[in-house]
Amino acid sequence: MYDNWEELEHSIIDCKKCKLCKNRTNIVFGTGNKNADIMFIGEGPGADEDKQGEPFVGKAGKLMNEAFKGIGINREDVYIANIVKCRPPSNRVPEEDEATACLNYLRNQVILVKPKIIVLLGSTALKNILGKEYGITNTRGRWIERKGIMYMPTWHPAALLRDENKKIEFWKDLKQVELKINK
Ligand code: URA
Ligand code: SF4
Repeated sequence: MYDNWEELEHSIIDCKKCKLCKNRTNIVFGTGNKNADIMFIGEGPGADEDKQGEPFVGKAGKLMNEAFKGIGINREDVYIANIVKCRPPSNRVPEEDEATACLNYLRNQVILVKPKIIVLLGSTALKNILGKEYGITNTRGRWIERKGIMYMPTWHPAALLRDENKKIEFWKDLKQVELKINK
């Protein structure tokens, strides 16, 4: 673990710790406020993210930005990262060995950001961070405390593209986050 961003960011350049290194264009490390109170964790880069090197800049990201705006969260104020930093082929779910190889970077990001709240976007984030026994359908919208950090699991923004109900639930979950941080 590194105690500063410079060394952490340097350590990931040219990373070949898992097979996702083979097809990536860019490592998508993370973006936003490095002292954020709220951190968002997604699954892994898609095609747009791989191209641009930034998380959630594609369709799902645009939906997330809309929700942020509606609720009064500024994208620049939060920190956004993913479970894996390189794009899985055809956007498949990251495999266990890939997530395991990559998770130390994310753990280090969490240590450096020191967020009060972590929003887990979808099943992959939930299971890799809080444990495989958790299911997103039953856990979303409920606060879970671990080691002084409050976790809010919710739908992955890509799931909202297909389901209006999930959109409403996603907004509700983010609203809870906004209310807690502004208390
Ligand atoms: N989906 C994710 O999980 N992360 C991104 O950065 C983009 C899409
Ligand atoms: Fe390294 Fe993570 Fe990319 Fe795998 S996904 S090559 S562990 S940065």
